[in-house]
Amino acid sequence: MYKKTYLTRYLVEKQRLNEHISPELRLLLEVVARACKRISQAVNKGALGEVMGSADSENVQGEMQKKLDIIANEVLIEANEWGGHLAAMASEEMEGIHVVPNRYPQGEYLLMFDPLDGSSNIDVNVSIGTIFSVLKKPEGTLVSEQDFLQAGTKQVAAGYCVYGPQTTLVLTVGDGVAVFTLDREHGSFLLTQEDLRIPDDTNEFAVNMSNQRHWTPPMQRYIDECMQGIDGPRGKDFNMRWVGSMVVDVHRILTRGGVFLYPWDRREPNKPGKLRLMYEANPMSWLVEQAGGVATDGKCRIMDIQPSQLHQRVSVFMGSKNEVDRVASYHAEP
Ligand code: AHG
Ligand code: MN
Ligand code: MN
Ligand code: MN
Repeated sequence: MYKKTYLTRYLVEKQRLNEHISPELRLLLEVVARACKRISQAVNKGALGEVMGSADSENVQGEMQKKLDIIANEVLIEANEWGGHLAAMASEEMEGIHVVPNRYPQGEYLLMFDPLDGSSNIDVNVSIGTIFSVLKKPEGTLVSEQDFLQAGTKQVAAGYCVYGPQTTLVLTVGDGVAVFTLDREHGSFLLTQEDLRIPDDTNEFAVNMSNQRHWTPPMQRYIDECMQGIDGPRGKDFNMRWVGSMVVDVHRILTRGGVFLYPWDRREPNKPGKLRLMYEANPMSWLVEQAGGVATDGKCRIMDIQPSQLHQRVSVFMGSKNEVDRVASYHAEP
């Protein structure tokens, strides 16, 4: 039986211990959690709520938007714009930033989100999620897109919510990773795990193997050695999992270890990777690091990358320390 610590109590108690959590940040996190509850309801309704299928529009990344991508984006904006805790928001589904309208007070935080991660899984009833990252607006004048271009090390909170068999909110404010499970009867998030740790070693990798022929030699080498199993240089058998929703693949890794890989590949030589730095890679990297794992783009720590664009992309290798260190060491070889 779980001691009943609701999200609010958890945050209030954290705030007493951690001077970095202001009342505004606490409000922000509660509001994001509330928005995730609403998204969870929409996801659960499925075909009954007329939320399935495509919206016949494209986002700035050139991807077809699903109805739920747009609904989740709107829910997050509506929930967050009136509270006075935010200056602006940015999202995968919006080309530019959304500044809090003048009719509301402006706060000192910036919120970024991937409103619905794993869009291709919506219509097939496979787990999806919402990813978010919080930064502080630099002091000074009017908020601008430039204010968002801060390295991942500057995040003040990050988390995600998975809409799966359970609705699970995972959060860090820089002192460990906490997991909350939605109690649907009461409509509240209950703390179900604290201080999540990713084991240093693993024999499970997550990668889209269909891209194998497009990878660079270090990436080919890493997976090839895993695939040789017990008779190869690694001397052990590996298992593979690929949900296709980063948030869920990384949730599995936070829960039982593993390594997640989405490297640059030759299909789009001018893009540094597929995943987005600001609202996918950075928040997931911070959670992974807070749980004792490692997150790199192959050459450097993801959270140290100085972004130059809101929708910047990046190669991603994250998860169990010894595996990520190994794949990074292959990339470092001349
Ligand atoms: P999104 O649905 O937010 O656009 O993100 C999809 C991403 C990520 O969640 C996942 O790991 C990856 O795309 C899957 O890519 P492939 O379809 O190439 O496997
Ligand atoms: Mn998308
Ligand atoms: Mn995504
Ligand atoms: Mn998305």
